[in-house]
Amino acid sequence: MPIFSWQDKYSVNVEEIDLQHQKLIELVNNLHSSVESRISKNKLEQLLIELVKFTSFHFSTEEKYMKEYNFPGFAEHYKVHTDLLEHMNNLVSVVSNGKIPTFYSDYDISSDWALAHIAGHDKLLGKFLNSKNVY
Ligand SMILES: [Fe+2]
Ligand SMILES: [Fe+2]
Repeated sequence: MPIFSWQDKYSVNVEEIDLQHQKLIELVNNLHSSVESRISKNKLEQLLIELVKFTSFHFSTEEKYMKEYNFPGFAEHYKVHTDLLEHMNNLVSVVSNGKIPTFYSDYDISSDWALAHIAGHDKLLGKFLNSKNVY
């Protein structure tokens, strides 16, 4: 999985969210390069847990904005967050139970979702927040 870097086109034009997305991309990149250099199971577990924790914190930040400004797409966006976290937590359990996932696709979720989610749902949220004068 190639390492990808932050680009201005990923911006949702809300500073707090953009900064968190940058951090998220950094964590995902760490995870990918660590998988490539075949780190130990414990280290992999640690990195995954760190990613899940930060993702969970980031999702709460977005949800806080959605509630505060009565975002009409809240239910749908919230569901996507919940499903993603569940998937990531399952991955942590798989690794904790001693299995190093063999299929590279097991990890793809962490980069695919990040970009797809930012480009789709988060951009919509950003536009909505901008219309409420939140930047
Ligand atoms: Fe989101
Ligand atoms: Fe996000």
